[in-house]
Amino acid sequence: MKQQLIFVTGASRGIGAAIALELATQGYQVGCLSRSGDLPSAPGTSPDIAARWHAVPCDVTQPDAVRNAMNTVVERLGLPVAGLVNNAGLHTEQPTIDLPAEEFQRLMNMNALSTLQVSQIVYPLLQANGGGLIVNIGSFFDKLGVKRNVAYCASKAAVGAITRCLAVEWAPAGIKVINIAPGYIVTDLNKDAMESDAFKAYLQRRIPGKQPGQARDVGAFVTSLFTTRCDFLTGETIYMDGAQAISA
Ligand SMILES: NC(=O)c1ccc[n+]([C@@H]2O[C@H](COP(=O)([O-])OP(=O)(O)OC[C@H]3O[C@@H](n4cnc5c(N)ncnc54)[C@H](OP(=O)(O)O)[C@@H]3O)[C@@H](O)[C@H]2O)c1
Repeated sequence: MKQQLIFVTGASRGIGAAIALELATQGYQVGCLSRSGDLPSAPGTSPDIAARWHAVPCDVTQPDAVRNAMNTVVERLGLPVAGLVNNAGLHTEQPTIDLPAEEFQRLMNMNALSTLQVSQIVYPLLQANGGGLIVNIGSFFDKLGVKRNVAYCASKAAVGAITRCLAVEWAPAGIKVINIAPGYIVTDLNKDAMESDAFKAYLQRRIPGKQPGQARDVGAFVTSLFTTRCDFLTGETIYMDGAQAISA
């Protein structure tokens, strides 16, 4: 495989770190963007795989910072850019009756607008490589009505809409756009909550396989979208929720 670069936002931990690990394992160089600029948290990773991670600090809600961060990695490596994974996201919840407009706006900015703007920034880099793939990380909440989650649900529904629009508009440039919408996924941050008796019982009731997903499940599937040649798949939202949302 020729050497190629893929950017992953929010790569320092959780699902983004799992995506960065799997991409690097498959031989890609990975531009890892997060506010901290930390390398992906993946204990035990071999030094030759970790050498394919290139971490740069930037806030995805600040377009100039994202542009500078991407340019830094591109200039350092001198490699073509094959793709982007818009993974960085924020979840908060509170009763809708008390939700301030500023909080709704904050989630829309972080989850939806940044997905659009980071995609706009990577567009010329992908175009210069004859096209590429943008994978957005949405959420299965995009099609659900979830109490206290109106801002998060709306922001992730917007990610699905952005995915469809960019896929249609950018197809002539050879750019595909796919939205992966996970269900409950265990990460370091939510592990304790997921292991609490009450939440475990809830997940066992709601998920047909009785277990939440793992970050590595998302990492493996997102990476397969880059490694598998399937030019006709674009614009879709693919749910990875263990069939939770379709179970009767
Ligand atoms: N975990 C789940 O169950 C689940 C389910 C469905 C969908 N998702 C979606 O999957 C994605 C990842 O979730 P996660 O659970 O892995 O989240 P997480 O563990 O909280 O990690 C978030 C990552 O994003 C980075 N980040 C946060 N704000 C940022 C900003 N403004 N600019 C740049 N980087 C930023 C964080 O690093 P810094 O703090 O250093 O910036 C971190 O690397 C999100 O879009 C989330 O909505 C998660």
